[in-house]
Amino acid sequence: DLAQVAEVEGVNIYAVGGFVRDLLLGVANLDVDVVVEGNAIAFAEALQRQCDCRVRPHEKFVTAVVIFPDGYKLDLASTRTEYYLQPGALPLVEQASLKLDLYRRDFTINTLALALNGPRQGELTDYFGAQRDLHDKALRVLHNLSFVEDPTRMLRAVRFEQRLGFTLGQHTAHLLRSAVQMGFLQRVSASRVLHELVLLLGEPQPGRALARLVELGLLDAISEELRFDDSLQQHFVQAGRAINWYELLPEVAPLEHWPVYFLCLLADLKTTAVERLCQRLGMPQRYRRLFVEQRHEAWPQYHQLERLGQRVEQLCGSELARLLDGLPVELLLLGMARTRHQPVRLAFSRYVTGLRCLRPMLDGRDLQRLGCPAGPLLGTLLRQLRDARLDGQVHTREEELAWVRV
Ligand code: CTP
Repeated sequence: DLAQVAEVEGVNIYAVGGFVRDLLLGVANLDVDVVVEGNAIAFAEALQRQCDCRVRPHEKFVTAVVIFPDGYKLDLASTRTEYYLQPGALPLVEQASLKLDLYRRDFTINTLALALNGPRQGELTDYFGAQRDLHDKALRVLHNLSFVEDPTRMLRAVRFEQRLGFTLGQHTAHLLRSAVQMGFLQRVSASRVLHELVLLLGEPQPGRALARLVELGLLDAISEELRFDDSLQQHFVQAGRAINWYELLPEVAPLEHWPVYFLCLLADLKTTAVERLCQRLGMPQRYRRLFVEQRHEAWPQYHQLERLGQRVEQLCGSELARLLDGLPVELLLLGMARTRHQPVRLAFSRYVTGLRCLRPMLDGRDLQRLGCPAGPLLGTLLRQLRDARLDGQVHTREEELAWVRV
């Protein structure tokens, strides 16, 4: 096991960071980060000689990922210190003591180390008052330059506040506001900002985090295009409900939550503004397609449903399907979340739960066997057959066969 290998190798190893924090808070966390007082790659290789695992070393940062046969991954890092040449830049790295390693971290609550071997095995090391801050439910940085060195920590602060129900310490809040005012977040690469925003929108109640971003001036710092007010807060709550509802349906594909909330956040932005925003955030192509093109295509459909209001109840299945076919599930959930009309919401849910996946039982080959030649006519016939199913005119294979013959 880990401790034995550490003994043989003559190094001390510690569990650190979020895992230890959550252990003390009684929160489940399977992401164990281990630091090695020495060389993590050499330690990982020693581990590989002793037990059944694979090692992926990362020479530049002297870290390694150990992958066990059941797929479990363990992150190993060498104790290190970091130098920042300029705010927002990635740090230069140098080997260091455990204390210096812990000192480079974002908040005191993330600086606990749990000894995994040696005479101190099972003991906590707390150099920076982490246990006190966990008790006080306070988020504090370790030094005045923390947000300057890594401005993404401002977004992490909001995430931890919301997730753990903690509050920024007074001095830390003051440092954060100054860093916002001095525009440090704008110096960070787009992909790092986006990464943090995605994590924030992936938390269980992202609406509260967004309100906090506004309060701290961070939303403006991310993009001046974005707004978040009470009505968007309502959309976020409704989006949360729509996501929960969707995930309780049988046999649905896994859904990423953040794009649904991001769509809410785009609110009534024009497509050109969304394009600019995606550009600024370095949004990967497949999401850009969802937020720009597919969202643009969904707009007329939403409007049509809204215009119908109460009358959507009278739409037959094939009419509703014609309106909503082709919309990705994220945009269907957005439609559900944004509407103020209950019948429109019900129309979305009727489509998602039933109509969306309804296909005729007969396929193209069946129709060819019945004498329909391959070509456009076959496609038309299949579409009409699907409409007949959507409208409840046929229910069984026999009824479909009879319908085709007519
Ligand atoms: N860290 C940091 N500055 C950052 C990102 C990370 O100082 N911008 C430090 C934190 O102290 C953190 C550790 O690196 O404990 C590991 O980062 P990560 O896995 O992102 O954080 P966790 O605390 O494990 O958070 P989560 O529970 O969200 O995984």
